[in-house]
Amino acid sequence: MNKKIKLQFPEGFLWGAATSAHQVEGNNRNDWSEWEKINAERLAREAKNYWQPWQQEKFPEMFDPQNYISGRACDHYNRFAEDFDIAKSLGHNAHRFSIEWSRVEPEEGKFNQEAIEHYRQVVLALRERGLEPFVTLWHLPLPLWLAEKGGIRSRDFPKFFERYVIKMAETFGSEVKYWLTVNEPEIYALNSYFRGRWTPQRRGALNFYFAMRAFVKAHRRAYRAIKKIAPLSIVGVVCNLSDFESSAGVINALIKVLSERYWNHYFLRHTRNQLDCIGLNFYFHNRINYGLNKNIKEVVSDIGWDTHPEGIENVLVGLREYDKPIYITESGIADKDDKNRTWFIAETLRAVSRAMARGINVQGYFHWSLLDNFEWDKGFWPRFGLVEVDHKTMERKIRPSAYAYKDIIENGLNC
Ligand code: BGC
Repeated sequence: MNKKIKLQFPEGFLWGAATSAHQVEGNNRNDWSEWEKINAERLAREAKNYWQPWQQEKFPEMFDPQNYISGRACDHYNRFAEDFDIAKSLGHNAHRFSIEWSRVEPEEGKFNQEAIEHYRQVVLALRERGLEPFVTLWHLPLPLWLAEKGGIRSRDFPKFFERYVIKMAETFGSEVKYWLTVNEPEIYALNSYFRGRWTPQRRGALNFYFAMRAFVKAHRRAYRAIKKIAPLSIVGVVCNLSDFESSAGVINALIKVLSERYWNHYFLRHTRNQLDCIGLNFYFHNRINYGLNKNIKEVVSDIGWDTHPEGIENVLVGLREYDKPIYITESGIADKDDKNRTWFIAETLRAVSRAMARGINVQGYFHWSLLDNFEWDKGFWPRFGLVEVDHKTMERKIRPSAYAYKDIIENGLNC
């Protein structure tokens, strides 16, 4: 008889996958879609210098400007019911998605009833299938009117965000319990305001700092607004936190402490009194050796990211000081051939269960992503989905790892 011990997750643990509006819906019109049009040719040209030969060979789509245009994306705006059927069939009991601000408030202060009704149908469709909705209010793109006013660096950005959030909470407050205000403020501030890679392509440390301040203010306002309208709701933020490991030496140890403090904790320490829960996105492990060195690992993802799923244990333990329930709002791997995803999910969940055994209150896990989607400045070639999508025919094909994840949800995990 097989006497292997199984790791079981607690009753009521939430299991699901995550998506974001712009990456899956299709036909969005916002600052990002405009940026795509202007930058697609350039991104296709630059792929030659940016990616390794093996990646260029495996994903020739990266040289096609069309790859960088979100276009119909996964047509999820029209196919959400079918996609939620798939999620349900895979044993999920929760789902994270985002509301596209540019759809519901396409003109400043004017809300579009049709778009709002659409999201009501989305929430309803989730509820009908027994999937608890986790709503992200902002996942990167901005309405065009706001981008024209300076985006998140506009002085009134926190007020604009609050007005939109009030409308959403008034509309969905009785149907949605879990709200996530902003997705990865630090990654957006880094790519859009420090490195100048993403729209609006600003650079510099001060820009980064002011962007982070703007998000802190916007989150606080949003938190208070939602709690006033729907006091029983659970409101949190989604942060992308890294596992930092230091090589020998006092300087390396100091860099590690500072990296953790400013990267992992800046936002959370400034909003700790306006958080009912923490959303953790975990992708990165940085071995510090007089700077943030790339990790040398045998398994890298299709986009060359180091795979270090066990690092999530450290990151979770590092969140102990906040004493809040934690949801893993994203964890995933670009893996077109689905060679490593099953291993990656299992290792991540083993590490999560070790953190839980150390007293960390983790209440849910959302795999990134349900569908192969539009990966921002990389376009369509990186494949993060539990479900493969043919972006021409829109055909969905469930990957084997999705069934492995289902098996973990239903039967637990071998130790
Ligand atoms: C973002 C997602 C993105 C994923 C993989 C996260 O940082 O929230 O939108 O697709 O990483 O790159």
